[in-house]
Amino acid sequence: MNRNRKILVTGGTGYIGSHVCVQLLEAGYDVVIADNLVNSGRDVVERIARITGRMPAFYETDLLNLESVRHIFREHRIDGVIHFAGLKAVGESVAQPLRYYSNNLTGTLHLLTAMQEEGCRVMVFSSSATVYGETNPVPFDESMPTAATNPYGYTKVAQERILTDIAAAQPDMSVLLLRYFNPVGAHPSGLIGEDPNGIPNNLMPYVAKVATGELPCIHVFGDDYDTPDGTGVRDYIHVCDLARGHIRALEYAFTHTGTDVFNLGTGHGSSVLELIRAFSEACGRELPYVIAPRRPGDIASCWADIHKAQDVLGFTAQATLADMCRDSWHFICCRKEEKI
Ligand code: WQD
Repeated sequence: MNRNRKILVTGGTGYIGSHVCVQLLEAGYDVVIADNLVNSGRDVVERIARITGRMPAFYETDLLNLESVRHIFREHRIDGVIHFAGLKAVGESVAQPLRYYSNNLTGTLHLLTAMQEEGCRVMVFSSSATVYGETNPVPFDESMPTAATNPYGYTKVAQERILTDIAAAQPDMSVLLLRYFNPVGAHPSGLIGEDPNGIPNNLMPYVAKVATGELPCIHVFGDDYDTPDGTGVRDYIHVCDLARGHIRALEYAFTHTGTDVFNLGTGHGSSVLELIRAFSEACGRELPYVIAPRRPGDIASCWADIHKAQDVLGFTAQATLADMCRDSWHFICCRKEEKI
């Protein structure tokens, strides 16, 4: 069924995008990647090919260049799009709101323009649990009102609105909005994973850099939250489970029209201290941490109500926190060996 279906993956050399490309190729789809490499490397394309034995087409292109987007749709008959490309650092978005609104919204509008011109009617969009804001009760479910607490989050809220309105005006269009919780881990091959440049904003890659000795100590942002051990609770989902959720969503999108939204999470939360303990187990040594002040904008707890993805997509995440830390650590060790 998927043979000869060709999927454009924007941001396909990024952390989540690359794992989705692997599973698309393994599921028999043809894959075209468009990425401006602002937060990833061209080597990821070859790594995807090494894992799958199939080479995706690759265009180093920026969605801000509408002509370059049109060119891809003219070179290939694109049956569907999975849209990851976008800037995603919360703190950076507060400091550079114009860059975030311009990049994330204009890029999406260009993509939709080219899709409309070429009659491509299927879009799976990379959204985020950040759209649930700070006031909804956990577990978050898809019926809850959306809000945001920073420009990055508002670009996700706005893109969900844009996609919903455009699909409403085009009855044959199929749009799925996937709200990720906290993606972590890496492909078991150790060839692709999360390897941010510089000092990571997110917990798991920061812990990994403390485990390798690149950073001296973990700063736990607050231990006085209303949670079992006082530290922040999040719904960590293995990036390979998340990728499998995209394959299920794409299959659903090809057989339905209209817009729908799904949480992709595990349905339960783990605290910062639990993740630190799990990573210590994975890397075989105690990891140093200090309690630091709360990070502005953080909420105490965030985890998904996963019933809709289970009932409609038949999707349930399988990996445990231990699996996520094990695969993360394996990827980091492979990376270190490569650099030797
Ligand atoms: C997790 C927990 C921190 C770093 C963010 C984005 C979200 C999505 C996922 C894109 C929190 C604590 C963190 C550290 C810590 N990204 N922490 N020390 O904030 O839940 O979500 O990434 O869509 O939009 O907001 O993830 O990994 O930054 O934080 O104690 O050095 O770890 O307080 O409780 P977050 P995170």
